[in-house]
Amino acid sequence: MTVVKVALLGFGTVGQGVFEILENNKETLQKQIGAEVHMTSILVKNIDKQRNLPSSLRVTDRMEEVLQQNPDVIFEAINGEEPARKYINRALEKGVSIITANKEMFAKHGRSLLNTAEKNGTAIGYEATTASGTPIIGMISKLLQMNRITKVEAILNGTSNYILTHIQEEGMSFENALSLAQSKGFAEVDPSSDLKGIDAFYKLMILSELIYGTQPKWDQVSCDGISHLTSNDFKTAGRSGKRIKLLASLEQHNNQIIARVEPKALDSNHPLFSVNGVDNAIMVDGEFTGPLTLRGPGAGKLPTASAMVEDFITAMQTRPLLQTISI
Ligand code: NDP
Ligand code: HSE
Repeated sequence: MTVVKVALLGFGTVGQGVFEILENNKETLQKQIGAEVHMTSILVKNIDKQRNLPSSLRVTDRMEEVLQQNPDVIFEAINGEEPARKYINRALEKGVSIITANKEMFAKHGRSLLNTAEKNGTAIGYEATTASGTPIIGMISKLLQMNRITKVEAILNGTSNYILTHIQEEGMSFENALSLAQSKGFAEVDPSSDLKGIDAFYKLMILSELIYGTQPKWDQVSCDGISHLTSNDFKTAGRSGKRIKLLASLEQHNNQIIARVEPKALDSNHPLFSVNGVDNAIMVDGEFTGPLTLRGPGAGKLPTASAMVEDFITAMQTRPLLQTISI
């Protein structure tokens, strides 16, 4: 039997989703990658927390211990820049492929990590960093094979869209809508990242890197969120049949990238007007395709985990059983 050894960094909303999908879909995975997936260890911050995991599985707070198990692939779903970057870098240098959901870390270090991966003959999948289960990285990568992308307009933060929807469609209070988003696992560990537009900004920078091969200077990007919106803003928009959405946009003019994250009141004929709930959506303008829109879940346990497992399957199919063992 051929085995692929995998490890998981983080066992929160997303990590648990990855574990669940890998555990409950062994046959499908075996068919897709021609190997059995064995989880070797899970890295967490607090090893004393009660977790519903088989006792045979190693749960540790030491990255060294994860690497000692010689995993072929690591799924990374922890919070923030460090120590995630350091752990991933170390793993790539050991020849381990990485699947990550961590947009802050990837917006800041994606380019350098992709270079390290290339040098070491490994892969990095990062679909889950941007719009969760909606495959916008895959769609854009495919479009870019033939098209120059001239313009992007998107809703990239599920929590903000969820809050805006509940306020504007149901009259819910901001605080209640935020609590609901948190209880569903949509919000960041520090929700001010969602509410101030920072999370959408990281995703926009990942898209900029993918589309233009570079990012604008961060201090030149205007970034605003939904936290300062007042009931008057919603009333004014509603009275003229508009809806406020948190929009992230990207354009290139004369070799200069113009990026922006801001709440905007959209007319009902705008393609993103009806994107409600936790959904995200992206409109891209391709040189030959013209404008196209993709919409889907923008946060949450299983959609995000699905994006990570899809990346894992792609990595295994393009580097078939590179480092697997036969037993
Ligand atoms: P959670 O806060 O639910 O879980 C984070 C997990 O990471 C926990 O298990 C925590 O350990 C562990 N962890 C945190 N810091 C460390 C550390 N320094 N060392 C080891 N383990 C650590 O977060 P989510 O699952 O929601 O998100 C995980 C990542 O995925 C984040 O980067 C997030 O931005 C991204 N993401 C989240 C989405 C979502 O819908 N929630 C969607 C797309 C991406 P412990 O359990 O001990 O606290
Ligand atoms: N907190 C993020 C959001 C998670 O709400 O969009 C998905 O990246």
